Amino acid sequence: MNIAIIGSGNVGSALAQGLSKAGHNIFFGLRDAASAKAEKASGFVSNAKILSIAEASKQADVIIITTPPEAVLNLVAQLGDVSNKILVDATNSIRTRPEPYRTAFHALKALTKSDKVVKCFNSTGFENMANPVYPNFGGIDMFCAGNDQPSKEIVQKLAKDIGFAECWNFGGDDMVELLEKFALSWINLAIMQGHGRNLALKVIRR
Ligand SMILES: NC(=O)c1ccc[n+]([C@@H]2O[C@H](COP(=O)([O-])OP(=O)(O)OC[C@H]3O[C@@H](n4cnc5c(N)ncnc54)[C@H](OP(=O)(O)O)[C@@H]3O)[C@@H](O)[C@H]2O)c1
Repeated sequence: MNIAIIGSGNVGSALAQGLSKAGHNIFFGLRDAASAKAEKASGFVSNAKILSIAEASKQADVIIITTPPEAVLNLVAQLGDVSNKILVDATNSIRTRPEPYRTAFHALKALTKSDKVVKCFNSTGFENMANPVYPNFGGIDMFCAGNDQPSKEIVQKLAKDIGFAECWNFGGDDMVELLEKFALSWINLAIMQGHGRNLALKVIRR
């Protein structure tokens, strides 16, 4: 698939590496193609194209937002017509939020009027997105939410393409904020409680 990744920081470059390895075409959509982060990201993913946000969006089947959440307020207009594209919100409105919206997901839905918005790739650290496979264990889990089932299924497949063992359906739009709280649970364990960023959450069954 053609995938636009808006932002080339920790999360953007981690996702780009895995998705590119899985055979997807990566188009970074950046506010400054000459930034240090852009240069670093293009080093990680040699076949990615570095474009403006508008150009990357135009090429894409799927657009993954990996900026601070409040940035969506400005970048939505640059995305152009997204009616046939899937928008993925990988942000967490923990320190900042796109006022007056509760999360970037809610802002994207309201401002684009698109139903094809999925929350995903927000619930673990970028190191786990760059490499979701743990030695002697296998792939860890990813989680997604949003009302549009067909869009969610495509994003679940992308998560598995990267190496996540499963991408659990957390539910509809009403579960998006819970999924952000779930991300906060990982942040609490990994950072606030000091267990380190190389830990992951996995659903097990019996
Ligand atoms: N870090 C994690 O482990 C992690 C995990 C899950 C989710 N998240 C979420 O993912 C998002 C990105 O986190 P990150 O750690 O990847 O951040 P980061 O390394 O600081 O990268 C942020 C990216 O967003 C771009 N950006 C910032 N403001 C923008 C704007 N107004 N318009 C367009 N692009 C803009 C930056 O561009 P410049 O290079 O021009 O500054 C940069 O490419 C955040 O919402 C965070 O909550 C982070």
